[in-house]
Amino acid sequence: MAAFSVRLDARVALEANAYGEITACFHGYSVSLGTFSAAAADRARKLRKGLPFAAFASNRGNIDEEINLLAQRLAKRGLLEFRLGASRGGEDLVIIEPQTSDYWPETPPLAAADALVLSRFAYMRRRGDELVLESPRAGALFKICDPKIATALAMLSRPQQIKRLRRRDGFPGLGLLALLTDCQILLKTSDGKSPQAAEGDSGLALWEFHDLLFHARSTGGRHANPLGGTYPHVGVLSPLPALRPGWPGQKIDLPDPGALSPFAKLLRERRSTRGFDDQRPIALDELSRFLDGTARVLSRWNDAADLDDGGHTVRPYPCAGASYELELYLAVDKCEGLARGFYHYDAGAHLLVSIDSATNELEALLAGATNAVGAPAPPQVLITISARFGRVSWKYSSIAYSLILKDVGTLLQTFYLMATDMGLGGCAIGVENIDLFAKMTGLEFHVEGPVGQFALGRGAKS
Ligand SMILES: Cc1cc2nc3c(=O)[nH]c(=O)nc-3n(C[C@H](O)[C@H](O)[C@H](O)COP(=O)(O)O)c2cc1C
Repeated sequence: MAAFSVRLDARVALEANAYGEITACFHGYSVSLGTFSAAAADRARKLRKGLPFAAFASNRGNIDEEINLLAQRLAKRGLLEFRLGASRGGEDLVIIEPQTSDYWPETPPLAAADALVLSRFAYMRRRGDELVLESPRAGALFKICDPKIATALAMLSRPQQIKRLRRRDGFPGLGLLALLTDCQILLKTSDGKSPQAAEGDSGLALWEFHDLLFHARSTGGRHANPLGGTYPHVGVLSPLPALRPGWPGQKIDLPDPGALSPFAKLLRERRSTRGFDDQRPIALDELSRFLDGTARVLSRWNDAADLDDGGHTVRPYPCAGASYELELYLAVDKCEGLARGFYHYDAGAHLLVSIDSATNELEALLAGATNAVGAPAPPQVLITISARFGRVSWKYSSIAYSLILKDVGTLLQTFYLMATDMGLGGCAIGVENIDLFAKMTGLEFHVEGPVGQFALGRGAKS
């Protein structure tokens, strides 16, 4: 392989204090990485220019172990990158930018007879003045610095045997091909599989390119882009006014709507609640009434047509194609009569099923929601709305993922209104971590994953 090294992301600075504590500083934040020996702190400085990747595999004494630990902690936070260069000090060929918290480069073995093909989810695009190769399936993004590599990769739109690729001008090197295979940007087809079969399970076959990319890039957990209310255009572009400027046409006054109906009153009373009364948490019977009123399966039916489409259900909220692909997972922090933990709501049987998950993962899920609503404490119950994507994409072309998000909207409003009606409080949450959910449930992110969240509890009197 060409020179392969590990280095700090250019936007990150490492600072060591007199007690050996090393802190990573980036974008105005600082994160403690733990306490290290003076020798390790000294060596850590070399991460700015880069340390050979091979040093992390070997165990040569205490310092390497410490640097290894430091590098793992930096990698977990997406603060490292990996460089493939023509030589140690030479031109950059490819820079690998991790996108998931557990990415660490791996080079699966490749034989001369192996054939490789590009994944149908992989794409190259311009980012600023750079060319990047990405895939929603990949744990890392590849910045291609040498156009010859881009040309060579373009040939992999069809399966190519490595021994034939090798003979071509601009062969990108076995190491890079292995790194791309590890990220599922390249797939092995040599075992007789068609490119489609090599792509993976039927869960993946059910995704269109734009939908999987939209899902992976518009949620947290599988990319390293800025996320949420970061105001990226302040000072550059003017904000749009809260009210659309009126059309110049003839104006027709609307009649006085008269007294509000009880439902119209409920709509007006509805507000987002972000702080909860933890002295009087929501009780299990209230949670049961909330779920029964909003999400329970009311009846089942099958299409009269010959086509077996998996059957249908009737539920309290509307849903595109009556697919009812949305599932509810409850992270319970405080609920009278129900233990703290993670549960799935079985909407058919109206019961909760406990799911074993690590305590730190439950904490991380609740902390993400606390952060998203800017509250001092976690919600009493955090509802994660997941989608069984294939229920919708099995039927709909081009619009599947967009229908799922629209369904989330109908369910969120149903939650808001039920909570208001019951004297409870709730708040929709616009960001969810799809990688964390995959870890907590063991479900692959493309099979079933979060598409919305709702914080629920007894609102604090403010
Ligand atoms: C799809 C959606 C996502 C939202 N995401 C968040 C969020 O992440 N954090 C938050 O504090 N509020 C969130 N909200 C709540 C809105 O901020 C709130 O509805 C809006 O400010 C109007 O206030 P009201 O709900 O009290 O009428 C979200 C609402 C919706 C519908």
